[in-house]
Amino acid sequence: MENIEELKKELTGSIESASDLKSLEEVRVALLGKKGRITEMMKNLASLSPEEKKEMGRGLNILKSEAEAALESRKEKLAAAELNAKLEKEKVDVTLPVRPECQGRIHPVSKIYEEVVAIFGEMGFEVAEGPDIEDQFHNFNALNMPANHPARQMQDTFYIPNLESDNFDDSYVVRTHTSPVQIRTMENKRPPIRVVAPGRTYRSDYDATHTPMFHQIEGLVIDKTTTMAHLKGCLYDFVKAFFELDDIPVRYRPSYFPFTEPSAEMDIGCLKTKTELKIGAGTDWLEILGCGMVHPNVLRAGGIDPDEYQGFAFGLGLDRLAMLKYGIPDLRTFFESDVRWLKHYGFVPLDESSMTGGLSNNGGLAR
Ligand code: PHE
Repeated sequence: MENIEELKKELTGSIESASDLKSLEEVRVALLGKKGRITEMMKNLASLSPEEKKEMGRGLNILKSEAEAALESRKEKLAAAELNAKLEKEKVDVTLPVRPECQGRIHPVSKIYEEVVAIFGEMGFEVAEGPDIEDQFHNFNALNMPANHPARQMQDTFYIPNLESDNFDDSYVVRTHTSPVQIRTMENKRPPIRVVAPGRTYRSDYDATHTPMFHQIEGLVIDKTTTMAHLKGCLYDFVKAFFELDDIPVRYRPSYFPFTEPSAEMDIGCLKTKTELKIGAGTDWLEILGCGMVHPNVLRAGGIDPDEYQGFAFGLGLDRLAMLKYGIPDLRTFFESDVRWLKHYGFVPLDESSMTGGLSNNGGLAR
């Protein structure tokens, strides 16, 4: 039987000299593992006389717990040292300067899209979407424009042939407005409904203020007691938030859309001079959107009982808003993909639009 004192000195030495966690583990196995020295000695106790067994047993138990404590404290020290070494190696230099300004720019239409969604989002609207290629049911019929309805001629529609049918009524269209999303929303959702639907729209038109592809945002609110007063309040709050003005004169002119009754167009007050357009003041008016109370036939087409529910809808052109807000004179330039144009009129990508953080971040204009 080995001398316990001697053994203690020896094993303290080997624990202290273990220089990393791996060699410390080897020392632990050599002492306390299944075939370790202390384990073996404990097994051998059986062959001793009762007297010796008692004394040796006590000594070994003490030795074992001392060895365990010594192993544990060495382990903590080595682990701390290894962590420090790792931290030292993986050091991040937080004093590095920020990256140079990025090259890409956010297109004004994307910026306006974000701004408008941020405003309506804050009012509790959800964003809904629909396909660019529509059937005539969603683009026209369900919106109270049956085949041969004269109002279909209000919009210069691009038709897409339906290869499975010779009947012209079955041909598809690229949607002429975002209003079909009203129907798609009603088909999928029960009132109360409060959605905005931004997206691409198409009409055969081309001049300084019209391009064959343009963008609209549709709004739809349906509930049991929704009235024209809600429509007016909602749109008034919208234009103030959008043009970032405390007040802005607005007026509604009676108008006609097959899918709303009554229908109106909303104008905002402005001042037009030869060189400038100033929004929010002056004696001139600028039309910015179409709106009205959802026609009972439209509610019916969407599977909603017009005797129980009513609502309002509006639609506005996002490109036009971008031209107004950011003073861009020709709509055609929006879609020419000229990088110099984008550098001039575009926005820094990191400036997100939000009602709390700032909408347009005028300082963020790339100009
Ligand atoms: N869809 C109409 C347009 O494109 C706008 C509109 C939407 C009018 C909703 C009333 C209600 O001109």
